[in-house]
Amino acid sequence: MTDVTFDAHLIDRLRSAQHIVVLTGAGMSAESGIATFRQGPSALWTNVDPEEVATPKAFGRDPERVWRWHLERRDSMAAAQPNPGHIALAELEQHVPRLTLITQNVDGLHRRAGSHNVIELHGNLLQARCATEGTIYDTWPAPPPLPRCPECNALLRPNVVWFGERLDSALLEQAQAASFDCDMLIAIGTSGLVAPAATFPMNARAQRALLIEINPEKTPLSRHVRYGFRQPVGHVLPALVAAAWPPSARALAPLGSPATIKT
Ligand code: OAD
Repeated sequence: MTDVTFDAHLIDRLRSAQHIVVLTGAGMSAESGIATFRQGPSALWTNVDPEEVATPKAFGRDPERVWRWHLERRDSMAAAQPNPGHIALAELEQHVPRLTLITQNVDGLHRRAGSHNVIELHGNLLQARCATEGTIYDTWPAPPPLPRCPECNALLRPNVVWFGERLDSALLEQAQAASFDCDMLIAIGTSGLVAPAATFPMNARAQRALLIEINPEKTPLSRHVRYGFRQPVGHVLPALVAAAWPPSARALAPLGSPATIKT
């Protein structure tokens, strides 16, 4: 059972929403056991300087170190499981006419949970990309010391966005357009410190969309939102979806039950 309660206005808006944008950050996957970037002793950027492992310069200087660091993260992500928050988002997508899920996470957990309309703004660490031509690979041979492109023999690199790099312009355009064209935006588990993702909630607000934040900590976005839930996403989101679409109302009558018998 959950102790989270929701007011009737929020539930009404959720049920009648035509296009919901969800923006997720590292906190979305915290309950799957994946470290966030900026918080506490296990945070990634507490333990390593991004300049050493997450910039094109670092890759040029020491690609083996950069690959080693990313492969460690990749292994822990591949072993992680979607949490109840990821699963509730996949369910939410089934209930509303349109849902655009913009994630800064590179762990692939949204798709694994069953979400379909996902924009992976910062790439996907389970993939590699040719450093020269940009071809993306889901699997690739990894001969020591470094993986190379099967097509052109250039170095492969992790398919993620590093500091100082541009985002994929088509994905960025889609995400921006969605943020300007939604009636509700839910920001989950993001510190709101990294642009351009941090600008999306304000785009939505400018169009009078309802802003919701789910994050145990306050962020720069918090003072702009209509509903702020200061709790972990796995605690709030399944309860919110269940409050809007109660499980009993969703259940189909079992085959052979009186409701299906025609006389
Ligand atoms: P951060 O690590 O900056 O922020 C994580 C947020 O999640 C914090 O605000 C936490 O309070 C919150 N949080 C923690 N546990 C939570 C939970 N169970 N439920 C809900 N929220 C929770 O991560 P991001 O905002 O995602 O970029 O960081 C944005 C980008 O900065 C990342 O994509 C990465 C990073 O540097 C690149 O690598 C390019």
